[in-house]
Amino acid sequence: MSLQRRLALSVSLVLVVSLFIGAILTYVHVVAKVATEMRAALAVGLHAATNAVDDREEAIDPSKRLRLVVGDFDGDRHLLAILRGPEGRIVAQSRLLPPDDPAPDWFYRLVISTPLKASLQTPEAFRSVGQLVLYADPHNEVSEAWSDLCLTMAIMAVFFGLILGMSFLVIRSAIQPLRAFCGALAKIGSGDYATRFADEVYWELVPVRDGFNEMAIRLETVEAQNRALNEQLLSVQEDERIELARDLHDEVAPFLFAVGADAAMIRQFIATEKVDAIQTRADSIAEAVRHMQRHVKDILCRLAPGALLNLGLPSAIENLVAFWKMRCPAVAFNLELAEDVIEPPLDVVIFRVVQESFSNAIRHGNPSTLVVRIEKTAESISVTIEDDGIGFVSGLITNGFGIRGMKERAKAAGGDLQIGNRPMGRGALVVVRFFTSKSNMKIDAAKLDVFA
Ligand SMILES: Nc1ncnc2c1ncn2[C@@H]1O[C@H](COP(=O)(O)OP(=O)(O)O)[C@@H](O)[C@H]1O
Ligand SMILES: [Mg+2]
Repeated sequence: MSLQRRLALSVSLVLVVSLFIGAILTYVHVVAKVATEMRAALAVGLHAATNAVDDREEAIDPSKRLRLVVGDFDGDRHLLAILRGPEGRIVAQSRLLPPDDPAPDWFYRLVISTPLKASLQTPEAFRSVGQLVLYADPHNEVSEAWSDLCLTMAIMAVFFGLILGMSFLVIRSAIQPLRAFCGALAKIGSGDYATRFADEVYWELVPVRDGFNEMAIRLETVEAQNRALNEQLLSVQEDERIELARDLHDEVAPFLFAVGADAAMIRQFIATEKVDAIQTRADSIAEAVRHMQRHVKDILCRLAPGALLNLGLPSAIENLVAFWKMRCPAVAFNLELAEDVIEPPLDVVIFRVVQESFSNAIRHGNPSTLVVRIEKTAESISVTIEDDGIGFVSGLITNGFGIRGMKERAKAAGGDLQIGNRPMGRGALVVVRFFTSKSNMKIDAAKLDVFA
């Protein structure tokens, strides 16, 4: 059942129950009121009739007197007077005023129990004429109560109808924005992040609308970032492949060619029995193989540091240093590495951060010295990589994947990475910290000229 229908039904139920209870209370009140009125009317009528026949002068013509008393009740709304002769025949009867708007019979029967009557106690002289009896007739009183009841019920029905109508309208207009909101949510669910919820809403729903729009904007931004990251990742992978191909081409292919040529020469020397020359060529082959082994190891190290890390993080970093020293002999590397063992997966994260920081420093900073410091205490492990190159120069900074990748790796491992210029002297500084206890989560960022 829809919320709107359920609310409308609930309100209707309350109204119907109220009407029912109202009717029962009115009924109880009417029954009591009619009984009281009838008793009072009978008492007053009896009193008046008694007064009319208690005088000796009034007994001069008892028959006429009693008929006059009966006549006094003509047109009464509640009392009917009947004079019966000694043999029980009706001698005279008053005329009741009929109700203007009689109540239905069922209501009359519902309200009335036993009709009230009272016989007039007359002096001796009147007894031979007959007996005067007063009957309380509740028709007029019940009709009055019926009219009141109808009016009250009509007013209540109009009032309840208005309440029901108003509730229905308010509920419908309150639900309208929720319907639009559901539609907008469904669109977001299907991936349409450009959806915005612009309708005017009740002020209670304004935070919901603004929150929804905020969420949609964020989702749209994140989706755009993801797309850009994916594109960047693809181009980084492509660059990496090209670099590997170049390495293989420049560093391995010539040596393979040389090994092939040396092997051909050895075959010739064996035929001509030039043993000394064979020795030289064999040495040359061994040298070429050593060279190729070094390069293949470098390439493997770049592709998967896992095998290297089997020997521990310090030796993996030393290997990285050897890789760069071969390419940039002018750069000095200072390593201050903690002796303590750093467990996986933190060792891989730290290795990747150091690897990217080296690559950034050498590619963008042109440094003469690179320092790596790894400190391990009971609370934290911190890694610092600093260079004395040009540092971050605003205007030159590109939106690269490397720094973002470092940050995400550190965050995923529960750490925090800060990057910026060194507080003193030229150069860049990368600090990553992993806390073993959550109490000291803040890195002293004030010391860093943080740009990102
Ligand atoms: N050590 C550094 N010295 C100077 N500039 C740096 C250094 N590290 C990073 N940068 C700047 O930050 C930018 C973003 O670096 P990064 O995210 O690694 O992307 P990429 O290296 O692919 O350009 C670089 O283009 C460079 O301008
Ligand atoms: Mg980079």
